[in-house]
Amino acid sequence: MNSTQQPNLPSQQLETRQNKLQQLFAQPVRLLAPMEGLTDPLMRQILTQIASDLGRPYDWSVSEFIRVTQHVLPAHVFYRYVPELHQDAKTDTGTPIHVQLLGSEAQLMAENAAYAAELGAPAIDINFGCPAKTVNSHRGGSVLLDEPAVMYDIISAVRQAVPAHIPVSAKIRLGYTDTSRMDDIRGAIADSGADWLTIHARTKTQGYKPPAYWDKIQAFNSLKIPVIANGEIWTAEQAHSCMQQAGTAHLMLGRGAITRPDLIASVDSSANNPMNEDKELSWQDLITHQIKFLEGKAKTDVVLVGRYKQWLGMLTKGYSEAQTLWDQIKREKNKAVIISALQTSTHQ
Ligand SMILES: Cc1cc2nc3c(=O)[nH]c(=O)nc-3n(C[C@H](O)[C@H](O)[C@H](O)COP(=O)(O)O)c2cc1C
Repeated sequence: MNSTQQPNLPSQQLETRQNKLQQLFAQPVRLLAPMEGLTDPLMRQILTQIASDLGRPYDWSVSEFIRVTQHVLPAHVFYRYVPELHQDAKTDTGTPIHVQLLGSEAQLMAENAAYAAELGAPAIDINFGCPAKTVNSHRGGSVLLDEPAVMYDIISAVRQAVPAHIPVSAKIRLGYTDTSRMDDIRGAIADSGADWLTIHARTKTQGYKPPAYWDKIQAFNSLKIPVIANGEIWTAEQAHSCMQQAGTAHLMLGRGAITRPDLIASVDSSANNPMNEDKELSWQDLITHQIKFLEGKAKTDVVLVGRYKQWLGMLTKGYSEAQTLWDQIKREKNKAVIISALQTSTHQ
């Protein structure tokens, strides 16, 4: 094809991406975090539904990481992690799902990202935060925070491989064992072509234990791209402290969004409405969503019941009623019995 036939295509695509970015970050963004084994498609469906019902939909969520090791993954793998790709990469309530990749080979990551884009991924996120030993021992996830040059290679290769209208982002921690490489990491991101950066404000060594060091995020605000703060946000008050200390208006909510599915709505209503009453999801309302979860798709009922119990265990942190239910069903294996326990509790 000569240049007169499609003269403006790449620049038009770039313009489309720039417009998209402007739209995405015109207001403070609120994202649902990728959490392997927690925010799977079923949980994403439930949580994005609740947020929409409360009038504050998530701006987008990110898939659990898809590990890239040796080849371009077949379509069915992408569809398994992100079945939303079958419906314009959105949950039923219209929340976009970005595809997250994890790996260490720039070229292979690029090829997989290009394929994900072909399958309909609206954006590609690259994982530099995973602390898992198996992943790190294959030079993937947070271990690459000690190799900023490799981070740069991966992000820039992905950027070049996907069409110009598809944003590419990175998700990092503050460092691997400590924060001594933060300047190098920032330098790598600055030149890589990433469209935004999400920062989980802990090192890999700090794991998931409180506190999160929100103020350290500030060091990344000199980048010319939006910065999204993440880590240890369980309440609206913590969300506001995080934004203030990090110096950014953009947040990603993780485990706090599982324990209090209404957290997103309370974060944004608390500024205008300190009482926050209309944005709360009562236990009673949450019961319907728990039943939907138990009626959702899973490999087997055993898996589903296990996953539900994991959620209920987390809900005990957010709702005192969850503890009573937990005591009642913790040894129960039968899904139907659990559903009827939930149904009965709606009539109490
Ligand atoms: C069980 C679990 C699985 C996670 N899986 C991923 C993942 O697949 N990709 C990723 O980028 N981060 C993953 N994370 C990290 C979260 O996205 C988030 O950065 C972290 O939980 C900190 O936020 P929080 O303190 O609000 O939970 C995971 C976290 C947890 C607890």
